[in-house]
Amino acid sequence: MTFVVTDACVRCKYMDCVEVCPVDCFHEGENMLVIDPLTCIDCGVCEIECPVDAIQADTVEGSEKWVEINHRLSRTWPVIRLKGTPPPDADDWKGVPDKFERYGSDTPGKGS
Ligand code: SF4
Ligand code: F3S
Repeated sequence: MTFVVTDACVRCKYMDCVEVCPVDCFHEGENMLVIDPLTCIDCGVCEIECPVDAIQADTVEGSEKWVEINHRLSRTWPVIRLKGTPPPDADDWKGVPDKFERYGSDTPGKGS
């Protein structure tokens, strides 16, 4: 089992999740984060930190796609350990569906 970041993170990127992870699983892209499924110890503490419920266990139906995306992007994106400043328009993207399809990007973030 692992936890994964899903569509709701795209363009919201609140980063409340990163500082609670005991094993530095989060990797930063330009407009979202992902979890490295190979590092995640399934503690679940990050899941409740996300204000838009973007983090879910891979046992949730439909998670296969997100496990692949989290695994693939965490190979090249840098680790993020510290909460940064969310995008200025983050609140405008809350609850907008299918963001990854339209705005998903392979471009890495800065990491911290
Ligand atoms: Fe980190 Fe635990 Fe979340 Fe996995 S479930 S990403 S180990 S905080
Ligand atoms: Fe994304 Fe939620 Fe973390 S919006 S950056 S998964 S707090």
